[in-house]
Amino acid sequence: MSDIRITINGQARSLNVPSMKRLLDVIREDLQLTGTKEGCGEGECGACAVLMNGELVNSCLVPALQANGASVCTIEGVAIDGRLHPVQQCFLENGGAQCGICTPGMILATQHLLNKYPRPTYEQIQEGLAGNLCRCTGYMRIFESVCKAAEADYLPDRGKA
Ligand code: FES
Ligand code: FES
Repeated sequence: MSDIRITINGQARSLNVPSMKRLLDVIREDLQLTGTKEGCGEGECGACAVLMNGELVNSCLVPALQANGASVCTIEGVAIDGRLHPVQQCFLENGGAQCGICTPGMILATQHLLNKYPRPTYEQIQEGLAGNLCRCTGYMRIFESVCKAAEADYLPDRGKA
């Protein structure tokens, strides 16, 4: 067992967890933030993606000890003052979410992309979301949602871990 400290969605938390426990399970079980989803459990689908120190990571591949001292942003940390973030709003309005399993990871991947490229090209959008799989939408609605979000009043400093 290890004592770790994580700043999760801006809140400092201390935890005692097995060193190799997956960050995904720490988030869902210890921190009770179930918005982060598990798909493949093998680093292939992006359903479990979160921002760790501003970088997009698949939390199913990150051991708890590696997250010690990190600042982590999950989907629960994306809304602003109880209102949907513009990226979330664009997914909602443009059919970017269907069953919703991929959506938290897609939203965080989109934030990571837009933090890097506030006005991304279509190719940059495709590339930026290449690690996130969706079984429902066929991706077009998701790419459209991201395009709309990039045109919207995107706030690059929000949603950064
Ligand atoms: S559940 Fe982590 S990448 Fe699929
Ligand atoms: S909306 Fe169902 S997997 Fe993407």
